[in-house]
Amino acid sequence: MDDREVEGTTRSLSAEELRELVVEAASFHPWDAMAPAALEAIASRGPFQASAETGCGGSTILLSRISESHTAFAIEGESRTITALRARPDLRVTSVNFVEGETKTTLPVHSFSQPLQLILLDGPHAYPQPQMEFVYLFEHLSPGGWLVLDDLQIRSVHDLYRFLLQEEFVELEDVVVRTAFLRKVAHPPGGPDGWHLQRWNRWPVLRYCWRDVLRNFLRGSH
Ligand SMILES: C[S@@+](CC[C@H](N)C(=O)[O-])C[C@H]1O[C@@H](n2cnc3c(N)ncnc32)[C@H](O)[C@@H]1O
Repeated sequence: MDDREVEGTTRSLSAEELRELVVEAASFHPWDAMAPAALEAIASRGPFQASAETGCGGSTILLSRISESHTAFAIEGESRTITALRARPDLRVTSVNFVEGETKTTLPVHSFSQPLQLILLDGPHAYPQPQMEFVYLFEHLSPGGWLVLDDLQIRSVHDLYRFLLQEEFVELEDVVVRTAFLRKVAHPPGGPDGWHLQRWNRWPVLRYCWRDVLRNFLRGSH
């Protein structure tokens, strides 16, 4: 058996070991890495039975050690990130499943065997890929689980964040540097469309409907 299969299972890591693990994880491909404080904030919410992330990197090293079953939807990319991660002695290989390919292709056809306690969105950031990833992953998150959005400074991610702040099915727990931690408190209001049930859509864009709004108002005032 590979040493990594037995070493460092979630529950046996002390606070000191977790701190060291975060430092190690943050040193992986530092040009693309999450803030160490954000990795610590993930660690402080574990351990998890099952988790998933889009993209991969230091967060994958960390989650491999604090999640019994972790799925990373990622591409190799120019930095050959998946290969480099697999070669890391601190990656618990037995608990990570790499689903290789662009998330727009892999997520729609993936089936999870159990609910997730944490989802990290940190893969492609071009609009509307974070939104697309949210659609495919959020329904697998258990109530009480965390949706983690990294890179709030990017407008496409920030738009998703602003939408979520309006909605009642998540609660903002914390923002650590540029990473938001949102807690799922309910399933989103639904139906096959359900746009009108979203608080984000409560107020129409008046520029396109002010005549209708005015007409309805005048009818109502008689
Ligand atoms: C910002 S990095 C992730 C950093 C990582 N969370 C960490 O803690 O170091 C973004 C990752 O997304 C991957 N990526 C980019 N476009 C992707 C796509 N379309 N599908 C899946 N992964 C993608 C990149 O290869 C890279 O590994």
